Amino acid sequence: MTSLDSTHRDVGKVLMTGASGRLGQMMHSRLSEMFDLTLTDVIPPPDLYHVPIEIADLADADAVDALMAGVDTVVHLAGTSKEMSFAATKRANIDAVINLYESARRAGVKRVVFAGSHHVVGYYSTDEFVEVKDPVRPDSFYAVTKCFAEAMASLYFDKFGIETVMLRIGSCTEAPTDARMLRTWISPRDMTNLVIRSLLSADVSYKTVFAVSDNPGRLWALEDGRSLGWTPLDSTQGFDLSSEAAERPHYDEYHGGVFTTQVPPDSV
Ligand SMILES: NC(=O)c1ccc[n+]([C@@H]2O[C@H](COP(=O)([O-])OP(=O)(O)OC[C@H]3O[C@@H](n4cnc5c(N)ncnc54)[C@H](O)[C@@H]3O)[C@@H](O)[C@H]2O)c1
Repeated sequence: MTSLDSTHRDVGKVLMTGASGRLGQMMHSRLSEMFDLTLTDVIPPPDLYHVPIEIADLADADAVDALMAGVDTVVHLAGTSKEMSFAATKRANIDAVINLYESARRAGVKRVVFAGSHHVVGYYSTDEFVEVKDPVRPDSFYAVTKCFAEAMASLYFDKFGIETVMLRIGSCTEAPTDARMLRTWISPRDMTNLVIRSLLSADVSYKTVFAVSDNPGRLWALEDGRSLGWTPLDSTQGFDLSSEAAERPHYDEYHGGVFTTQVPPDSV
């Protein structure tokens, strides 16, 4: 479990949602070595984990209350990240987030580390470098729900004192798969280290952080992550895309890439 120094807090019992998803698969093993971790998802993981997983739908308020009993800290990865109808997105990204914060308030949870998205600033031109203080410019219904999550997290800190580190994640994959990702990529190692620093750092209040590796031409500031004691170790510097990946369309006019071009089939 965690060893503490004066800059660290006691993380206590950690609930990780979305544990069967891509980030959950990447991170659960290392986090379970460091923390008292409980995993949950609405579907089982593709491979058996050594840590048991509770199957529950976060859109079900009673189920969330049951998961939250005795929890001190939440790593919230659950959600949908495709551009779908607003109704479909609402269940995973709005109803679940309301349940999460309400249940956290009732259970006395102290901190949430939240998987937000860079798509909240997706309509900035790629000529512009964006810092946390810049206004949101969401590029999709998906991004609007992540703006909602940012507002919920801010409200629940100001009103109830629940801290949140809101991670505006770039593109977290094993390696970049198109030219846009040379700027937006975050390595699994940097991502996991950032979540660990977000769990351990003392007194974060409500804090927004861009989660991106130290890539050449990156579009977002790293200072907020560094202020948690995080240093990105990886970069796309010198990375060679395969010719197929280099030729893949990547819509590089705006930060949000292809999300700025997508219109859901049933858009209400
Ligand atoms: N992977 C990235 O590069 C990236 C980039 C930006 C933001 N994010 C955000 O990080 C989070 C995790 O990303 P990911 O790539 O692992 O996504 P993912 O889609 O692979 O995993 C999300 C998980 O959430 C679960 N989930 C969905 N609805 C649920 C519900 N109602 N109740 C319980 N569980 C539910 C799904 O079953 C899934 O396992 C998402 O919120 C995503 O928006 C990821």
